[in-house]
Amino acid sequence: MKKLIAGFPAQLIEALEIGAAANIRKSEKPIHKAYVAGMGGSGIGADFVASFIRDESPIPYHTGKGYDIPAWVDENTLAIASSYSGNTEETLSAFQQFQERGAKIVCLASAGKLVESAKANGLDYIQLPAGSPSPRACLGYSLVQQLWILNKLGIIGSSLLDQIRGASDFLTKHQESIQERAKQIAALIHDRVPIIYTLDRFEPVAVRMRQQFNENGKMLCWHHVIPEMNHNELVGWREEDSRLAVLFLRSSLESHRNQTRTEITKEVVGNFAGSVLEIQAKGDNLVEQSLYLVHLADWLSAYLADERGFDAIEIKVIDFLKESLARQ
Ligand code: F6R
Repeated sequence: MKKLIAGFPAQLIEALEIGAAANIRKSEKPIHKAYVAGMGGSGIGADFVASFIRDESPIPYHTGKGYDIPAWVDENTLAIASSYSGNTEETLSAFQQFQERGAKIVCLASAGKLVESAKANGLDYIQLPAGSPSPRACLGYSLVQQLWILNKLGIIGSSLLDQIRGASDFLTKHQESIQERAKQIAALIHDRVPIIYTLDRFEPVAVRMRQQFNENGKMLCWHHVIPEMNHNELVGWREEDSRLAVLFLRSSLESHRNQTRTEITKEVVGNFAGSVLEIQAKGDNLVEQSLYLVHLADWLSAYLADERGFDAIEIKVIDFLKESLARQ
């Protein structure tokens, strides 16, 4: 897993090259909205894209994590089916509904039924490099391809793609210090229950961090965002619990009001949690800061696996669940 994580900055560059060469045909019908179906490691990329394009995209970008798609997905919808294996049943179910609705479909997969069906039906698809043992280690591929699809369909310009290139250089430069910080944090929280708080705009990072703690670190974790948690979860902090370790993901992009909210929130939860830590995002823009935190979270999850004596790659229980479902 550490080798896969170390390869993330290079994966971003490779992903830019794959997307540049991809053939995405313009839709016959105007595109008014977009919907991405994908689960777990193949779904999270869409959450990042939705956050990154928010200030630029003229159309809404929705993500769905289940079997069914909303009623509004129609022939004026860009519908992306994202599954690294190409065989995830929820995503295949959404994909079938995309076809029934006549949406503009693009498939993202390394192999499997999704690639076969895209080929057989003459649909646009981008084939990702095959052979990774962990779809969650392929976030760079799925995220960057979605930006390319939007760019090639004329929905966004190229500045976010430039920022991805910049982020890759930035992460390469900071790789060592990121690893060091991740190691320090892992030593502090490996026997705790981590709780991640961050700003709404950084929610994809918090979700990614939680997923990586779950899958790589084999531990439970939860997250919430500011300001929403100020209106509910904050009240849940009433009793001291030394098992809880709260990680605040901070950013120079926080507005003054959100900064003040975060400080007050820190004070309140600090009265009850076992420990409170801050992780400051580095970078010049949302893309750079988000990917900086992603990379740190990925390293942190690998070190948590070490500290806790687990193999970060192994996800036997997910395999068991998928196999049990397939048998029924
Ligand atoms: C495994 C992982 C999982 C998968 C998910 C969907 O590394 O992260 O969350 O991504 O089970 O499978 P795929 O990605 O093949 O559609």
